[in-house]
Amino acid sequence: MLNVRILRFNPADQSTPDIKVYSVKVHEGARVLDVLKAVRDTIDQTLLFRHCCGAGQCGSCALKVNGEPRLACMSEAADGMLLEPLDLPVIRDLVTDIGKYLKERPYLVPACEECAGSDGSDESSSGSCSCACSCSFAMPSKEETADMKPLRDCIECLCCVSVCPAVKVTDFAGPTYMRQEMRLALDPRDCDKDRIKGITEKGLFNCTTCQACVLACPKS
Ligand code: SF4
Ligand code: SF4
Ligand code: FES
Repeated sequence: MLNVRILRFNPADQSTPDIKVYSVKVHEGARVLDVLKAVRDTIDQTLLFRHCCGAGQCGSCALKVNGEPRLACMSEAADGMLLEPLDLPVIRDLVTDIGKYLKERPYLVPACEECAGSDGSDESSSGSCSCACSCSFAMPSKEETADMKPLRDCIECLCCVSVCPAVKVTDFAGPTYMRQEMRLALDPRDCDKDRIKGITEKGLFNCTTCQACVLACPKS
């Protein structure tokens, strides 16, 4: 048997959260997600938590294990562990309101009007366009792809956002947003001439460079 402490909170009828203790039977090497499922399936069906892939790929199961942001599906369960929601607005139990942080996403601007021609057709199949933005219709090189790859690994778990001191006290869009901006900035096909201005308006300079986001990120 394994004992687990889980923060339970329903803002609709509680003013403060409770920590409840559950004892469940799980297999050797069980993950935190297995424990949550065992509690829900055998003790309390009202326990709310998110999960999907079970393999560290979707980011939906992020929560705090003993105070540290973790993916429930990738973290080994331990007797006596404390499970809490990420430090984000709580909807119920371990489910947080992530919509605010994910509804606005940076996107790739594939070609400016000058690149595509006034009729929108792509007249240049490779090489750089002639306008000032210097974007390219060519596919990223091997080196450029390698530079972008670590940034593409983000699974939008928001562990980084939950620990970011700048997000807590300013309008800073946060590290997840900035990581995506960086990925697009490295993409030679991107033709957003206002990307620097955009990230400045999104509060980039509120970042304190504390590195808390780096330490919290399950994808390095
Ligand atoms: S370095 Fe610190 S302040 Fe900057 S984004 Fe990361 S957690 Fe936030
Ligand atoms: S940057 Fe890392 S911690 Fe932040 S959302 Fe992406 S995967 Fe999660
Ligand atoms: S369930 Fe998808 S990352 Fe954990």
